[in-house]
Amino acid sequence: MQIRRIQVDDVPDFLALWAKVYSEGAFLSKGPPPESLVLQVVERVVKEQIPNFVAIDVQELVGAVEVFPGSLCGFSDENADRRGYLGIQLALVYRGKGIGRKLMQAAIDDAKRYGFEVIELTVFQSNFAAIELYEKLGFKLTGLGKSVILPVGLATTEQHMALSLKNVSKIEK
Ligand SMILES: CC(C)(COP(=O)(O)OP(=O)(O)OC[C@H]1O[C@@H](n2cnc3c(N)ncnc32)[C@H](O)[C@@H]1OP(=O)(O)O)[C@@H](O)C(=O)NCCC(=O)NCCS
Repeated sequence: MQIRRIQVDDVPDFLALWAKVYSEGAFLSKGPPPESLVLQVVERVVKEQIPNFVAIDVQELVGAVEVFPGSLCGFSDENADRRGYLGIQLALVYRGKGIGRKLMQAAIDDAKRYGFEVIELTVFQSNFAAIELYEKLGFKLTGLGKSVILPVGLATTEQHMALSLKNVSKIEK
């Protein structure tokens, strides 16, 4: 399994992965944006070395993690680009094998290099696996968001979490 920076050529497979995980109806609040927009964003990601990584098994893109500066996520306050907003997607059959942890570690290390002061994310409270991973990596609960009914029929609530990068030490195992 190779973890490497996303490339522009990865966009179709990245979009397919995102659409597939979204279609499971339990983990992601949004499906992928139009390909033209994603292409533009990934070009910027590559040029500016924004922390975005993919997991490749042989030649198949099976996972991805993105940490986007706040200004790319609709925030316009003066500190927006000190905050990174994280998303992660892994193909179903590749879960529970340590790949998510590796992707997260790559994203966190690179987010520090990039200069983010904090990584923020939103996760459904029903997503125990993701929350456990985030907590193990040091993310803390910062608040609750909307209550939603997931496409799979489960009622849940969004949970906001953050990892301060000012004092990140060794990751707890
Ligand atoms: C959440 C996700 C990225 C985790 O990646 P993963 O590769 O399955 O996780 P790992 O195998 O690296 O496990 C890391 C930790 O997560 C936790 N974890 C993973 N799967 C778990 C499960 N089924 N139940 C409980 N905890 C679990 C464990 O604490 C594990 O710790 P360990 O490394 O000490 O064993 C992956 O399951 C995924 O893509 N899920 C669907 C999309 C999603 O939920 N994205 C996040 C939206 S906010």
